[in-house]
Amino acid sequence: MRRYLFLLALLPISFVAPVHGAVGLVQDHRIVIPVSKAERSLLLTEMREYLHGLHAIQYALANKDTKTLDLVAKDMAPRLERLPASLRDRFPEDFTQLAIALQEAFLALARMNGPDLQVNAALEQTGEIITYCSGCHDTYRFEVRALPKPRK
Ligand code: HEC
Repeated sequence: MRRYLFLLALLPISFVAPVHGAVGLVQDHRIVIPVSKAERSLLLTEMREYLHGLHAIQYALANKDTKTLDLVAKDMAPRLERLPASLRDRFPEDFTQLAIALQEAFLALARMNGPDLQVNAALEQTGEIITYCSGCHDTYRFEVRALPKPRK
């Protein structure tokens, strides 16, 4: 289940505390992923869905609501995979690996579900999911830029 956690060690910036400049501003060292305006909007919509998903998972676990847990964990898993290939092809390799790790972590949570759901273990798995959320957020940002023409 933790087979992807090593990825986080490969990321250049994850888990490094923010560096404070002389005027108290936090410097932004995240790697820029250039996207179009529409792509950014699509990506951020998917991201907000992730947050909704985590919210639903939290309540489902607290109430041992296995039906909701199943629905949500399986719905969250393929979100980045469903993005248009023209966008996915431009993601840096480590970003894609983190997206895959996140997908696997949601599927692992779905597999732990069932009549004898162990809430403690499922919460730990949810913790692993959030590790990927924050690892990626510490490392990348989307920026709207004029994109180079697609290669032939
Ligand atoms: C593979 C990388 C990656 C993963 C994994 C990831 N995110 Fe994001 N997320 C991003 C990036 C990049 C941004 C945009 C940050 C920026 O441009 O400042 C973002 C933005 C967001 C936003 C802000 C949306 C908005 O409207 O501004 C939310 C909320 C969010 N992510 C939630 C999540 C949650 C919850 C998870 C885990 C379940 C997650 N993300 C996993 C890369 C990722």
